[in-house]
Amino acid sequence: MAEIRTFAEDDRAELRELFTRAGEGAPTASLWGHEESEAAIYLDPYMESAPDSLFLAVVDGALVGYLTGCLDGSVLPSESERMETAIRRYRLILRPGPAAFFARSMVDTARAAILREPTAGEFEDARWPAHLHINVAPSARGTGAADALMDRWFDRIRETGSPGCHLQTLVENTRAVRFFERMGFAKHGPTPLVPGLRYGGRRLHQQTMVWSP
Ligand SMILES: CC(C)(COP(=O)(O)OP(=O)(O)OC[C@H]1O[C@@H](n2cnc3c(N)ncnc32)[C@H](O)[C@@H]1OP(=O)(O)O)[C@@H](O)C(=O)NCCC(=O)NCCS
Repeated sequence: MAEIRTFAEDDRAELRELFTRAGEGAPTASLWGHEESEAAIYLDPYMESAPDSLFLAVVDGALVGYLTGCLDGSVLPSESERMETAIRRYRLILRPGPAAFFARSMVDTARAAILREPTAGEFEDARWPAHLHINVAPSARGTGAADALMDRWFDRIRETGSPGCHLQTLVENTRAVRFFERMGFAKHGPTPLVPGLRYGGRRLHQQTMVWSP
């Protein structure tokens, strides 16, 4: 049974190592195949700005999963700002994996504009101001570690009086969607294309989900 605890500064290196493998096998595993910049977008800001909402699952002294929560997204730069910063800082346009992502992304965005189809965007709604990301290493999936992380996060939402929480996953991440539904989240809004992203060659679609205490 996993023990759940709050992130501490000493966890940085081990958590950073877990980050690179905890998403394995899921359509959300990698954005453009460059770990450092992806950690700079999806992990580092949470360690810096919301450490009290960052929970770790530990089995036999080793980290096996984490949940990066945030009660109020305005304490972080927006996801697109974080992406733009990472693109400049890591000169991603010059790297083959990310460059292919940007090329696909431009084609997808142009195609969607011609077809007048929406594309993925960030979610802002005062009813669900909190948000989360969760990743559990393959060896700890199906063991209850993810449930325990979510229970701790729900406690924090209740304790702080937050009105609710949203998350953004992918329609194609069916295991995660089933998990979030079992945790009480409901699908919310449209499921637009995520430009640039592919899994097994297939285009992927954003799934927003919401939960209220
Ligand atoms: C999403 C995640 C946190 C869920 O935790 P979990 O411990 O796997 O949750 P569950 O055991 O409840 O499994 C969820 C579903 O997957 C099914 N499942 C179990 N083992 C499976 C396997 N080996 N392969 C595929 N699906 C499996 C479960 O049966 C369950 O479906 P059901 O509700 O229809 O029965 C975890 O799978 C994970 O970290 N995945 C990779 C990263 C990810 O997708 N994160 C979410 C990004 S938004």
